[in-house]
Amino acid sequence: MRFPENFVQEVVERTDIEELIGKYVTLKRTGSNLVGRCPFHSEKTPSFSVSPAKRMFFCFGCHAGGSAITFVQKMENLDFPDAVEFLANRAGLPLPKESESNLQNQGVSRKRVLEMNLEAAKFFRACLFDKDLGKEGMKYFQGDRKMSLATIKHFGLGYAPDSFNLLTDHMHRLGYKDEELIAACLCGKSQKTGRAYDYFRNRVMFPIIDPSGNIVAFGGRVMDDSKPKYLNSSDTPAFKKSKHLFALNFAKNCCAEKMILCEGYMDVIALHAAGFEYAVATLGTAITPDHARVFSKYTQKVIISYDADEAGQNAANKAMRILGEVGMEVRVLKLSSAKDPDEYIQKFGADRFRQALEQSRTGFDHKADRILAKYDLSVGAEKIKASNDLCTLIAEYWSSVEREVYLAQVSKILELPVEVLKNSVEHIRSKQSKEYAAKQSREAQATLKNFGDRINPEAVKDPRAAAAEESVLGLMLLREEYRSAVASGEIPLAASDFVTDFHRRIFESVLKMHQSELGFRFELLGADFSPDEMGRIEKMEVSRQELSENGPAVFRSAVSVLQEASKKKSLENSDLNTRLAYLREKKAKLHKGKVDQK
Ligand code: UTP
Ligand code: MN
Repeated sequence: MRFPENFVQEVVERTDIEELIGKYVTLKRTGSNLVGRCPFHSEKTPSFSVSPAKRMFFCFGCHAGGSAITFVQKMENLDFPDAVEFLANRAGLPLPKESESNLQNQGVSRKRVLEMNLEAAKFFRACLFDKDLGKEGMKYFQGDRKMSLATIKHFGLGYAPDSFNLLTDHMHRLGYKDEELIAACLCGKSQKTGRAYDYFRNRVMFPIIDPSGNIVAFGGRVMDDSKPKYLNSSDTPAFKKSKHLFALNFAKNCCAEKMILCEGYMDVIALHAAGFEYAVATLGTAITPDHARVFSKYTQKVIISYDADEAGQNAANKAMRILGEVGMEVRVLKLSSAKDPDEYIQKFGADRFRQALEQSRTGFDHKADRILAKYDLSVGAEKIKASNDLCTLIAEYWSSVEREVYLAQVSKILELPVEVLKNSVEHIRSKQSKEYAAKQSREAQATLKNFGDRINPEAVKDPRAAAAEESVLGLMLLREEYRSAVASGEIPLAASDFVTDFHRRIFESVLKMHQSELGFRFELLGADFSPDEMGRIEKMEVSRQELSENGPAVFRSAVSVLQEASKKKSLENSDLNTRLAYLREKKAKLHKGKVDQK
């Protein structure tokens, strides 16, 4: 571990978990816990709970859980040491000296990548403003794209020269090594020599800045028709493209009410320049649930303003669904006579765009129009199809009020009685809920048998033993007395009694920590287990806690199930005589049991 354990412990103790998580999730108090909507999966009713007393969080829906460190790991996409550092900085705790120097030798940290990005951004900018080097880039921005100097400066735009080594050499001079530059995705790695070379070449450069002002990545556009049009940084220790939004650093200051979501960098820049500073874009990917949660942190309403072509409109449908799932109010803006918002503003100006914005429509109207455009309502067969499609669309809405409103609307358009349409909607809904129930039960059965368990894939081989292991571990996590009983040998249980590898690792870590100077500390498990694994470990404890019977008899019986299972497993690999001896012993025990009962 990079940090000493007592330092990690101090960081956790100095972190107010309620305040930390409260920054990301709206929490309401219920008794001694706080509840809210889980930031790690989409849900409408809160199943995410935080216990300030235990300094833990747990989601009863997706089983994410762990300490404040786990939370930061998941939320900010950091590894364990970086999350500890994040919380230490937050709490104003100085990092221990020795580990700081360690830090350089280990993998490249997020902090280091951010430093490199800042230097690279300065370099790209200097190149753009260089009379010779930056001539083409400047001509592209100002001439072709009609950008003002103020806009170019505001967004920190730059130019990557047509060279394989200018940036690399510059960064070397600043003391950055090849491996670091490659990890930051500023350099590629030559297949022949293994050396670093400039990743972005002969492209105009767009820095991607997070809400705290860090440059997390870059996008670079060619100035002609070559491919790829845009080259983006891959994910690095500082960047996850499924999470970041371009220009959120500006938009966050004026987006309390609404935000505009576009497809491209240039759309966002054109909108900001025209006064719509609450526009953002995803980065070379479709919108993800992670993005949706970022939106829900900053704003109430998202107006989707994608390209007018078929691809853009299909993407808008998807975006509507993903944003709707986190409870956002969503509008769609479909522009006519221009392919995207950038072109629209250039052609018609800001005022016309503002008018269009005011006329942006609800998701339902937008989808209904796209359905209606497909059919000729004067032809009976087509009208039936349109009616089916529209009823299917209405059936998707959970609120009966919404369904009523849309039914009335559709009834007018199709000139069909509301009652008829309503029957059809209800029919579709009941069919879907039956299908859903069947699917749920199939899934439940699969889980029961532990099929597809990613975290503990071995559980499927012996579900009974795996369940006993979970009980044993849950109880050991819950109560000091069980940890002591096992450590002292009072209850004979060894790592070799565990059937699944994942559970054995937990057992070993818990026991080792119990015997260490500091004693057992849940949050320190995070150093050995991934955030997903931490959620599973906490689930074991939480599920035990919910049971009323957690006494020594329960513990002993779970331990004996486990020992039985591991004995059986070891027998499978042993010779015939040992197996026979085991069977005789078992039979004798059974006989004794019967005699005892009499
Ligand atoms: P578009 O092809 O619509 O580009 O891609 P655009 O934004 O209109 O760009 P201009 O106006 O031609 O300069 C939309 C977005 O998709 C991503 C970029 O984020 C782009 O802004 N994209 C596109 C890529 O990441 N790579 C590509 O090769 C193309
Ligand atoms: Mn465009």
